[in-house]
Parts: sequence; C-alpha cells; structure tokens
Amino acid sequence: MASSTKASKVVFGNLKGGVGKTVCTGQAAHAAVVLGHRVLIVDADPQGNITRAFTNFDTVNMPPASLADVLDRRASATIHDAIQPTRREGISILPSGFDELQAVQDALISQPGAENSLAKALREVDQDFDFIFIDSRPATDLITRAAFMAADRMIVVIQPEDWAIRGLQMTLSAVEDLKEYLDKDLPVAGWIINLVNPSRNDHAENLEQLKAMAAAENVPILGEPIPSTADLGRLSVVGMGADEHPKPTPRIRNFASMFLSIVESLSTSTQNGVHA
Ligand SMILES: Nc1ncnc2c1ncn2[C@@H]1O[C@H](COP(=O)(O)OP(=O)(O)OP(=O)(O)O)[C@@H](O)[C@H]1O
Ligand SMILES: [Mg+2]
Repeated sequence: MASSTKASKVVFGNLKGGVGKTVCTGQAAHAAVVLGHRVLIVDADPQGNITRAFTNFDTVNMPPASLADVLDRRASATIHDAIQPTRREGISILPSGFDELQAVQDALISQPGAENSLAKALREVDQDFDFIFIDSRPATDLITRAAFMAADRMIVVIQPEDWAIRGLQMTLSAVEDLKEYLDKDLPVAGWIINLVNPSRNDHAENLEQLKAMAAAENVPILGEPIPSTADLGRLSVVGMGADEHPKPTPRIRNFASMFLSIVESLSTSTQNGVHA
C-alpha cells in the first residue's frame, strides 16, 4: 500500500542492551513489506548489526555513505547518497557508519542542532516510504537522542529480567527528559516483550509485573510475549524475515503473523498510539 503521505517513523528503543531491539526492528520491516509498504531501516547503532544483517556492508566493506554523514553537517554526502537497497526488495537502509558513526559523535557535540539532524534529513525522504523503522543503541548519547528526535513513536522492547525492567524505567524517563528539555513528544506505541523463558519462575513473575506496569501506564503490550527461539535469532542475524523461513515451524509462523498484526496496529493507530 504505497502512499504519498509522510512515512510513519518508529524507533525501537531500550537503554538496556541485548533485549531484541534489532531483531524486532528487522522483523517489523519484513512484516511491513509483506503488507505492501515501502520501508526504510535506519541503523542508529555503531555496532551496525542490522546493517550487517541486511547488506554486505561491514567495517571492511564500508557503505559509500552512512548515518555518520547524515548526522555530520560538515560531510558532503546527503541522505540520498547514503540510502541503500537491502537483500529484500521493498526494504531500504540508511546504514550505520560503524566506527565513523562513533567518531562523529565527538564532532557533533560542538554542532548546534545536531540532535535534530536525523529528523531534518528524514523529512527529505518522507514521501518515499510508508514506514521508517529506527534501530537504536542502548546508550543516552547524541546518536540515540537524534534517533529519538527523528521518530513519531517509540516501541520499547523489553526482556522479563530484573535488570531489563530497570532499563525500561530509564528509557521511559529518557522520553520524559526529551519532552522537558527538547520539547519533543515521543509517544510510546507499545511494548514488545521478548526473550521469555517459559520454564523460569522469575520470568513468569516479571511478566505479570510488566503487564501491570503497562496497564498503569496505559500502554499496550504488542503481540504475545516472544519466547527465546533459536530459529528467530538465526534468521534475524542474516536479515531474513520469519515469513521467509524455508521450513517454518508453527512457532515461526506465529511470529510472522504476530509481526504482521503489530505493523497493522501501527498503520491503524494515530501518532499517539491510540487506535482510531
Ligand atoms: N526471541 C529471540 N529468540 C532467540 N534469540 C533472540 C531473540 N531475540 C533476540 N535474540 C538474539 O539475542 C541477541 C540480542 O538481540 P538483539 O541484537 O536484537 O538485541 P538488541 O537489543 O538490539 O541489542 P543491542 O542493545 O546490543 O543493540 C541476538 O543474538 C539475537 O539474535
Ligand atoms: Mg541492536
């Protein structure tokens, strides 16, 4: 469903690492393409995991231009130069600059308005995509603030571990800080609970706690809690969608349809994450 309206921009965030932000960003991109949308992935992480998964670029085979150039106003390359096709038709990527992205962070600190550079650049390609999914890194640095400033909504990916629940609270207060200090409203479209181990009692308890917290915050939990599933990890590392699995198990089929319904809920909800 290509449209000429502005892309819906969603950042996948959590200030804690390893919770599945990159896996969920990738799977949401695949689901959006299955639904006929045009998708741009933005890799706002110097680790460049989603760039490596969806393209042949890495620290040796660097992309011709990257998010590092887009953020750094001294660079001559534009966002149009940086956007690349990926292994899946319909999904483009604004690749990570790997070490260059990390290095540009120091230069950015002395550039007024650097936080807004990604938001500004994405406005140039707004009409070319239906969804822009931003994979963010687990840090409160300038790259992450630029990623948050560029998004209309955030999906928080959470693991039902004690430390990850603390990460959730840090992430929500970072969103509050944006509002207070940068005048940026970033509504939370929902939480995805990932990497659940059904045989662990502490996970069951933390799941209940997360459900109560979501209800208190009036935020939906998107889809079903995702169990730790080796196949989903393996597919995601090579940039494949659950829908592309050559021999899908019922669980993989279930993931594919769950991400379809998550993307559908993003399409039908307003920018406040409230269903129209
Ligand atoms: N549901 C899952 N089942 C199995 N493996 C998973 C699942 N979700 C994520 N993984 C694996 O867990 C690891 C961490 O996931 P991922 O890289 O998506 O987390 P992240 O939040 O993006 O991490 P970082 O904060 O470092 O960017 C990866 O190896 C990934 O393949
Ligand atoms: Mg990641």
